[in-house]
Amino acid sequence: MTAPVNPLRDPQDRRLPRIAGPSGLVLFGVTGDLSRKKVMPAIYDLANRGLLPPGFSLIGFARRGWAEQDFAQIVHDSVREHARTEFREEVWHQLSEGFRFVPGDFDDDAAFDQLRRTMDELDAVRGTGGNFAFYLAIPPSFFGAVAGQLKKHALAQPGTDSWRRVVVEKPFGHDLVSARELNAILDQVFAPEAIFRIDHYLGKETVQNILAMRFANNLFEPIWNSNYVDHVQITMAEDIGIGGRAGYYDGVGAARDVIQNHLLQLMALVAIEEPTSFAADSLRVEKLKILRSVARPSRLDQTTARGQYAAGWAGGVHVPGFLEEEGISGSSTTETFAAVRLDIQTRRWAGVPFYLRTGKRLGRRVTEVAVVFKKAPYQPFGATSTEELTENALVVRVQPDEGMTIRFGAKVPGTAMEIRDVNMDFAYGGTFTEASPEAYERLILDVLLGDPPLFPQHEEVELSWRILDPIIEHWARKGSPESYPAGSWGPESAVRMLARDGRTWRRP
Ligand SMILES: NC(=O)c1ccc[n+]([C@@H]2O[C@H](COP(=O)([O-])OP(=O)(O)OC[C@H]3O[C@@H](n4cnc5c(N)ncnc54)[C@H](OP(=O)(O)O)[C@@H]3O)[C@@H](O)[C@H]2O)c1
Repeated sequence: MTAPVNPLRDPQDRRLPRIAGPSGLVLFGVTGDLSRKKVMPAIYDLANRGLLPPGFSLIGFARRGWAEQDFAQIVHDSVREHARTEFREEVWHQLSEGFRFVPGDFDDDAAFDQLRRTMDELDAVRGTGGNFAFYLAIPPSFFGAVAGQLKKHALAQPGTDSWRRVVVEKPFGHDLVSARELNAILDQVFAPEAIFRIDHYLGKETVQNILAMRFANNLFEPIWNSNYVDHVQITMAEDIGIGGRAGYYDGVGAARDVIQNHLLQLMALVAIEEPTSFAADSLRVEKLKILRSVARPSRLDQTTARGQYAAGWAGGVHVPGFLEEEGISGSSTTETFAAVRLDIQTRRWAGVPFYLRTGKRLGRRVTEVAVVFKKAPYQPFGATSTEELTENALVVRVQPDEGMTIRFGAKVPGTAMEIRDVNMDFAYGGTFTEASPEAYERLILDVLLGDPPLFPQHEEVELSWRILDPIIEHWARKGSPESYPAGSWGPESAVRMLARDGRTWRRP
């Protein structure tokens, strides 16, 4: 007879929180925007939820000569401003005892010696056990220099019973060539399983729910193919402009910033075959198959569109165009809107276009995946009865207002047989009492646990560039992008792109 499972002791019980073992994080670029707004608040939220080990330690590294006192105060201020969970003095007190600051430039050998001594000290007084993750929240041009220093100072080398990991932020290169170079640099210093590339979209609850919806249910999978699906639209729209990020954004643009990583990863999750498990390797194998099956885009003037926002209205305020933004050259050809049609050549998806679009200064901030179904082959109603009926659609609302909507036809009450679209909604907020953790909480915890399924591996990154490079090169030959007014839904060429296929973009 098998022993009854005790949910409190069974290590397989997924309801139990996963708590990181003894460890610390070295945060390069600790004074930067990402660290203050996302990484440090997420670390506090994890501590507040009891998911970090008691001796967890954080070493900040940057050029500014902050004394340790100032460092703790600055982290404190970031946490108070940006953390998701309530501020608790006792949690803060325990966490901040493990904070250290190492001032230095990336080419300063003495600073890396100091870093090593600090790590040793934390091992001794906080019990971090030699387990450290190096988080590179720094401009990508410095990834190579920091990786080189970690190697030179023997900081990347794990001990027999300890681990060393590295976390890199997007962008993972600028094109296929630079992505390969970056991967080669990281591969020289860290083992592939020790490299965690952050695509924070994959840490979002709703994105993971795509997998739950598809593979935990029997309802959707039978219709998840070209027999029933007409096309898929994946949108990430922002209502804001470039804000203070001109230096980063100019020369990068919407396709590199969003499509290469977030939207191609979302597309892969919508399109993959069922993995044998959710272990990193199984999931990766399926994602790679999809990325490899994307047809090289052709007729690029018809299957892609790009735009640049001009002055217009956002939230009732008149806003400047991209070329008038501070720090942007008046002759910049960087696109702030990009749309592409991709075709996945597999039995499941042949003939089902995936339309991906993203842009800044669009009508609304929204990210969604819309699976639009073919119309019923025959409708035994009069023509006027179904005038207001469009295609059935299943929409995964990634943000904001996370949830899912199914659009289908229903009879309008009355004596006539009139059929109209209605929506059936599932909202996370209304169904679960627990608020969704921030993507960074989930991803940082996964780094400390060494759990990599939600981190793209280097081959996925390279395949994504292989899809995008010809499109970006084509655009570069065409000169300036078409302009669109701020607050609209993008350039006319994007509308025409879908109209040519007999379809229209959704207005989320
Ligand atoms: N900000 C975001 O929302 C966001 C979103 C997604 C991805 N990312 C990625 O995250 C990374 C960081 O972005 P960020 O916006 O936080 O950049 P940032 O605000 O410009 O911060 C850069 C950090 O790097 C440090 N740094 C720069 N040069 C250095 C040097 N030579 N030696 C030592 N430290 C140096 C700076 O410290 P000091 O100036 O104090 O020395 C600062 O802490 C980038 O890869 C970016 O693409 C950012």
